[in-house]
Amino acid sequence: SEVPGKYKVRDLSLAESGRHQIRLAEHEMPGLMALRAEYGESQPLAGARIAGSLHMTVQTAVLIETLTALGAEVRWASCNIFSTQDEAAAAIVVGPDGTPDDPRGVPVFAWKGETLEEYWECAEQILVWPAGDDDDAEYRGPNLILDDGGDATLLVHQGVAYERVGSVPADTRPGEPDHSDENNVVRGLLRRVLQEDPLRWSVVAENILGVTEETTTGVHRLYQLADAGHLLFPAINVNDSVTKSKFDNKYGIRHSLPDGINRATDVLMGGKIAFVAGYGDVGKGAAEAFRGQGARVIVSEIDPICALQAAMDGYQVARIEDVLGEADFFITTTGNRDVVTAEHLVGMKNKAIVGNIGHFDNEIDMAGLAAVPGITRTEIKPQVHEWTFESGTSIIVLSEGRLLNLGNATGHPSFVMSNSFSNQVIGQIELFTKDGTDEEYPTAVHRLPKILDEKVARLHLDALGVRLTDLSKDQAEYLGIDAAGPYKAEHYRY
Ligand code: NAI
Repeated sequence: SEVPGKYKVRDLSLAESGRHQIRLAEHEMPGLMALRAEYGESQPLAGARIAGSLHMTVQTAVLIETLTALGAEVRWASCNIFSTQDEAAAAIVVGPDGTPDDPRGVPVFAWKGETLEEYWECAEQILVWPAGDDDDAEYRGPNLILDDGGDATLLVHQGVAYERVGSVPADTRPGEPDHSDENNVVRGLLRRVLQEDPLRWSVVAENILGVTEETTTGVHRLYQLADAGHLLFPAINVNDSVTKSKFDNKYGIRHSLPDGINRATDVLMGGKIAFVAGYGDVGKGAAEAFRGQGARVIVSEIDPICALQAAMDGYQVARIEDVLGEADFFITTTGNRDVVTAEHLVGMKNKAIVGNIGHFDNEIDMAGLAAVPGITRTEIKPQVHEWTFESGTSIIVLSEGRLLNLGNATGHPSFVMSNSFSNQVIGQIELFTKDGTDEEYPTAVHRLPKILDEKVARLHLDALGVRLTDLSKDQAEYLGIDAAGPYKAEHYRY
């Protein structure tokens, strides 16, 4: 279903099913619902125009409707070609009071199974904000970005650079070959927009008060931009709130990784050997999930601290090339490029299952796999492909090397996303209401104050029946902290 400039989703008739799922998710997202109760009346986001680029799932639907409940106008796209839940997208366009014939919700541009061209057109759609009926200008930009992986932020930065220097910067996606398909798509888009409107991106960038970024990889890009002196607006690093990365990245993955593998293959994990590349927050959740299913887990790391942690947690730590013929599952969680090479893929055990759960699709060399002489690809079902080598053995690759928990399943469950998204909402409020107070959020990458991080955790305790122990005045004095928090120093690592 599509109305140009207003929405583009798979099918608005899916809205009813989406609405039921959203209703159940709301019950599991106490943080977001508490923020609606706290801020519904004061409308701190009235006047905010938020361009959201984040997996268009049921949980994200609850986030979007929290932002609008606080007064924001919102336009949304997914940050991955496979991660949209079409019924959630439809329900958001229709809105709680609309019908498929009379949609009254939020503009969404997202469906499961976009092409790369469509993906970037959707990204453009959230950043080009059509004028309201009484606006003089032809379009208004957003004034806030809510990003996951940094593609929306990157598009604005690349657009501005293009306008300034007259050519498309080489590193459209850092770490990707200069002339990869995706970089060429972005270049084409920037060239077209420049012809239509030579100052589009400068205007968009000028209006933006800041971005809140969801994930490790996007945060990494933001620090790179800031270090190079290229960051155009303040950014809040949501990922490194403790209540985000130490929960979503770890416990979220512990749930959604086996969910993706099961829905894709239904192959038993117990007794098998699982190889996990990377033992950061995501790797820790992944390894624990496999162990919980009775698999024997082997971890790889480049960082001696994380390697030692993995060993102390009882995992074998090895290099991928030494376990190719042994492991039944290979999962990448590094956020790094070229972790599984074509040579590795060719050497794997017959029917090994290979998947990536890091943000971008450059962890596994899919182009190299496709170029192996004599290889054939069979679609078992969407997002599950068997690659058969000339020898007759084969491997199963999930979601074409893109994040499999969102491609083969529905991503993290609501309760953990309520923590992540409460940080997002608070981050958006901070940037919007503290606009102009340059001391608090100058153009740099910031983390939310610890007291707000603790607030997010607090909002989730009742639902789990957690009874917190009160810190007495004497005890607080003894520890040299305020009885109301923050309870830990900035350098504390949890
Ligand atoms: P992290 O930085 O905590 O962990 C990554 C680990 O990989 C580090 O310990 C690093 O030393 C290790 N590593 C890097 N290169 C390696 C290599 N060549 N071989 C072995 N290990 C290597 O990052 P985090 O938070 O665990 O995130 C990892 C990725 O997952 C990021 O791309 C992030 O954006 C993404 N992510 C995906 C989610 C999902 O739902 N699929 C959820 C949260 C994060």
